[in-house]
Amino acid sequence: PRSGRVFSGIQPTGVPHLGNYLGALENWVSLQDQYPSVLYSIVDLHSITQPQDPTQLKSNILDMAASLLACGINPEKAILFQQSQVSEHAELSWILGCLTSMPRLRHLPQWKMKSKVKNEGSVGLYTYPVLQAADILLYRSTHVPVGEDQVQHLELAQDLARIFNNRYGELFPEPCALLSTRKVKSLRDASAKMSKSDPQTMATISVTDTPDDIALKIRRAVTDFTSEVTFDPETRPGVSNLVNIHAAVAMISVQEAVSQARGLDTGAYKKLVSEAVIQRLTPIREEIERLRSDRAHLERVLAQGTCRARELAAPVLAEVRRRVGF
Ligand code: ADP
Ligand code: NA
Repeated sequence: PRSGRVFSGIQPTGVPHLGNYLGALENWVSLQDQYPSVLYSIVDLHSITQPQDPTQLKSNILDMAASLLACGINPEKAILFQQSQVSEHAELSWILGCLTSMPRLRHLPQWKMKSKVKNEGSVGLYTYPVLQAADILLYRSTHVPVGEDQVQHLELAQDLARIFNNRYGELFPEPCALLSTRKVKSLRDASAKMSKSDPQTMATISVTDTPDDIALKIRRAVTDFTSEVTFDPETRPGVSNLVNIHAAVAMISVQEAVSQARGLDTGAYKKLVSEAVIQRLTPIREEIERLRSDRAHLERVLAQGTCRARELAAPVLAEVRRRVGF
């Protein structure tokens, strides 16, 4: 076991997709056993930086809770909680926001990507990375599992820890990234990542897709005109994405996946890949269905997580307030 505290968050987008699972959640599960203190937050404050329907948001929060539990997050090993229920996040975010500048935030990826869509964005979307820094620093976290797209946001959290420590005295460790490099690509366009927001439903596999859905989506996955299966993400992105998915769900190496494909054309290989995906996702889908039918249980798990998160957050925020002069 290592020392330190792990923090990570996921937006309540409802049920995760295969990219979320293989790129983030699978690693979250293994970190529970590696670190003595682990916190995972359903970051609903972050989600309202884009318009959300209130009823849908409430149900997405519970769906995400059910999904995290079904994927293997164990509330005995990790504190699983809902961000908005620990008001210290918002308060620390305000204080940290006063320690950085508008230009420092302007070039961060989230703002650049999401504000472009409508050529405008909320103040919340602009200061999103400051809230993210608060999420991390509030627990004096040391390790943050992130995807490559989040590295610049983590750098802001490191800067803010340093700036606060310089001005008010040492309090926050500088959190370091546990970088996840695994990328699942869209099944319709392997130059793009698999994403919840992809309008093409055939491009994304949800962890609750039925075996028939999964088989159909993989059968329709874009490959190329070479029937042999080889691994070369540069020249054969589509088939290489299937090899990566196969290796990840079957927990084998890419070389092993390619050798299992020997003698199969891409059509036959797609069957093999769908079977592997179905085998991996079926227990998760069944567990999500079971958990979804017990809303009270999900609410209880989150409420217990909230209590434990608050116990850690309150003394840190009290110390911050004292240092600031409140
Ligand atoms: P989306 O892009 O579908 O909205 P999020 O941005 O909410 O997904 O990502 C949640 C987590 O899942 C992040 O840690 C992110 O890095 C990871 N993730 C999202 N999509 C993928 C993907 N296609 N491959 C690997 N990891 C992914
Ligand atoms: Na994203």
